[in-house]
Amino acid sequence: MIRRYSGRQGDALEKIRVLSVASGAAPELRDVIRTASDAERFQVTLLDQDKIALHEAGAHIREVESRLGVRIGIEYLNHSVRTMLMAPQLKDGLGRFDLIYSMGLFDYLTPRVAAALLGKLIQLLRPGGEMIVGNFHVSSPSRYYMEYWLDWVLFYRTEAEFLSLLDNSPAKDRARTFFEDSGCQMFMQIEN
Ligand SMILES: C[S@@+](CC[C@H](N)C(=O)[O-])C[C@H]1O[C@@H](n2cnc3c(N)ncnc32)[C@H](O)[C@@H]1O
Repeated sequence: MIRRYSGRQGDALEKIRVLSVASGAAPELRDVIRTASDAERFQVTLLDQDKIALHEAGAHIREVESRLGVRIGIEYLNHSVRTMLMAPQLKDGLGRFDLIYSMGLFDYLTPRVAAALLGKLIQLLRPGGEMIVGNFHVSSPSRYYMEYWLDWVLFYRTEAEFLSLLDNSPAKDRARTFFEDSGCQMFMQIEN
């Protein structure tokens, strides 16, 4: 079972709880937590199967903490999302979140696994919470270079294919897709 560990919990329940799934080193946190009051507002959980990436995330966080002179509420979960899929009551171990996001993971997941993971993650949203998940769009021009020269094959999806991962979920009515400026990266947003 996945359980929280190593976090400085404090008054976590009053904070905005954020979960990054397949977080990598989460460099974006340096852009989000820019002041001491930002640091006080967030309780962040980073989940990744790669311990080294989580160590790197810890180094970024310590740098922000020392710059701002505050402690940041953060916990590191060194797990595969496949562990999440097997957990019958994930929220008992992890609690619920106001924001869940995942970038650079769903492109690697088969439709079946991606749909199952989405279903699990939706259960972790607090009422009023929001989830944002990224996936390369089929029209991404770098696709051919990546596949041909790098043998880097991903699951590129159309908007309909991406949303169809929610075909068996009531959350489909609350989901939409949007793009970043280049149009390569597609996002699915689900409001709870
Ligand atoms: C392309 S990186 C994206 C990192 C970060 N989200 C970002 O956008 O910069 C993919 C990350 O997914 C993690 N990952 C891949 N498969 C995973 C799995 N089954 N469970 C947990 N993490 C996984 C890798 O360890 C890696 O850190």
